[in-house]
Amino acid sequence: MAGRVSETTPVPTPEGWRAVDAYLTDLLVGHDEALAHAVRDQRSAGLPPIEVAPVSAKLLHLLVRIAGARRILEIGTLGGYSTIWLARALPAGGRVTTCEAEPRNAAVARRSIDRAGVGDRVEIRQGRAADVLPTLEGPYDLVFIDADKESNALYLDWAARLGRPGTVIVVDNVVRAGRIVDPTATGSQVEGVRRGLELLAADPRFDATALQTLDAKGWDGFAIAVVTDADTVAVPEAPLH
Ligand SMILES: C[S@@+](CC[C@H](N)C(=O)[O-])C[C@H]1O[C@@H](n2cnc3c(N)ncnc32)[C@H](O)[C@@H]1O
Repeated sequence: MAGRVSETTPVPTPEGWRAVDAYLTDLLVGHDEALAHAVRDQRSAGLPPIEVAPVSAKLLHLLVRIAGARRILEIGTLGGYSTIWLARALPAGGRVTTCEAEPRNAAVARRSIDRAGVGDRVEIRQGRAADVLPTLEGPYDLVFIDADKESNALYLDWAARLGRPGTVIVVDNVVRAGRIVDPTATGSQVEGVRRGLELLAADPRFDATALQTLDAKGWDGFAIAVVTDADTVAVPEAPLH
């Protein structure tokens, strides 16, 4: 890990980090027609360009393999880009359950997931996650939270309930170009992200950290947590949605 930052360390510029991201993506992630097709279909269907960057998708894929995960829960499917990466990491018999509120997004995702050849291991649950999660049966080995940020604390609570000690949880977009530490940033999304991070810090069911990222999607980051064997629950200060 990095030591003391020297005074001559350059400040990253968007051009610089995009070039590094492109280099790392070309070298370590590569390009794949089914994934490129999924992104093209998302764009032509008018879905927003908010899928994870390829380097982050590859990290999710590796985490599934490192954890030996067989059952994955994803909250926030969009057009299925991250879902395909997750599903491709599963061993035979493994399964991804992914939850998406928007019927149009779920339909685009279904087509792309099937085209990528992993349709048999992906179940899309269309509906608001707050309604779908209580109908699911755990334990899941890995949970990826990437939907409405206002509900991050609620989703973390469900991830712990539907997990087991050792379940890996990843929460995307927790840095938001630094707005999480800007006291003037008071939007519902940034506040939802802060509540989620505070729950990860306070609740003994989680052990967590978070990393900042500079990639094709700009300055952001993700939290990563493991579910502990504690069964006490911290009461969040703000009501869960
Ligand atoms: C950031 S995108 C997900 C990106 C996807 N994980 C990827 O990397 O390819 C967030 C998705 O969550 C969905 N979403 C928003 N609120 C939701 C909710 N309450 N329940 C389920 N899905 C929701 C949105 O419709 C959107 O498709």
